[in-house]
Amino acid sequence: LDSKSVLTSGVMKMPVVGLGTWQSTPEEIDTALNAAIDAGYRHIDTAFVYQNESAIGTTLKKLLDSGKITREELFIVTKLPGTGNRREDVELFLKKSLEALQLDYVDLYLVHSPVGMVNKGFDQLFPMGEKGEILFDMNTDLLELWKGMEAQVDAGRAKSIGISNFNQNQVKRILDSCRIPPANLQVELHIYLQQKEFVSFCKQNGVTVCAYSPFGSPGQKAFFEKRGIPTEGIRLLFPLEDPVVKEIAEKHNKQPSQVLLRYMIEYGVAVIPKSTNPDRIKQNFDVANMTKIDSKSVVTSGKMKMPVVGLGTWQSTAEEIDIALNAAIDAG
Ligand code: A2P
Repeated sequence: LDSKSVLTSGVMKMPVVGLGTWQSTPEEIDTALNAAIDAGYRHIDTAFVYQNESAIGTTLKKLLDSGKITREELFIVTKLPGTGNRREDVELFLKKSLEALQLDYVDLYLVHSPVGMVNKGFDQLFPMGEKGEILFDMNTDLLELWKGMEAQVDAGRAKSIGISNFNQNQVKRILDSCRIPPANLQVELHIYLQQKEFVSFCKQNGVTVCAYSPFGSPGQKAFFEKRGIPTEGIRLLFPLEDPVVKEIAEKHNKQPSQVLLRYMIEYGVAVIPKSTNPDRIKQNFDVANMTKIDSKSVVTSGKMKMPVVGLGTWQSTAEEIDIALNAAIDAG
């Protein structure tokens, strides 16, 4: 696997490394997107609620008009906001996103969250009641909503559809009743939140997985502080500062960020690290050509060097051993 590898599901081919844009301001987008395209990114992740689709659309139009990239090379993802979580609203919101992105279709359209909110218009991303409470929509019907998502594939506005922030039961309910299965699940995943059982459930059912916050969202604290929201509950140790990650990075002459991304890619999921800094954007894509663990690798302790793959012999009968051992030695 390298940064240009793809995860496939149905017609979808998702490049494993994409540019995350949550908290990227419209002013930062042009520099970030140009740096990303130059570095080799073709997968861009955004959402209606990030409020940067128009800025992304403006830069993409310039890049496409210049002939530097073609639409077919790009993999553009955006998401239906919670305020659109009903069958008849999907089309309205996707059309609005496409208009902002200046595109005829997105490569992947995701339900941003299983939790619906009351629709009070496009500009009310988190509609509030009189007491300042968020107006959740208690009548959200995920199976009905999914029919609205499937209609977008039929209409050609989305090549593939998927879900985000769903749990395993919710994914299963969609899989059990859908006409077009979700091609991708986007959830928070990093070394401290690996969700192994859930990820393998998705893989077994043909749903590819994309990890958001692969660095554990170090920008989250500043985001909340800026809005006066208490941050005491937010994790204190971030994966980028993890001593083991740092040690591995030093040993391989890489950055901790590269170790974290490489780990996730080898785990078999796509990653969408967010950055608006051209150097870090470049660094985050450069996760190929790193020493890969293969069957000849060894784990060491003291003088011991244990090859990572060995031949087990429990229940191998004495009569079978000769053939088995010869085959094993020949195989490596
Ligand atoms: P910046 O945009 O200034 O680069 P996550 O994707 O887990 O939410 O992490 C995104 C956060 O991590 C952003 O605050 C981003 O800041 C920062 N970041 C992105 N790439 C790197 C990197 N290579 N090294 C350190 N911090 C990074």
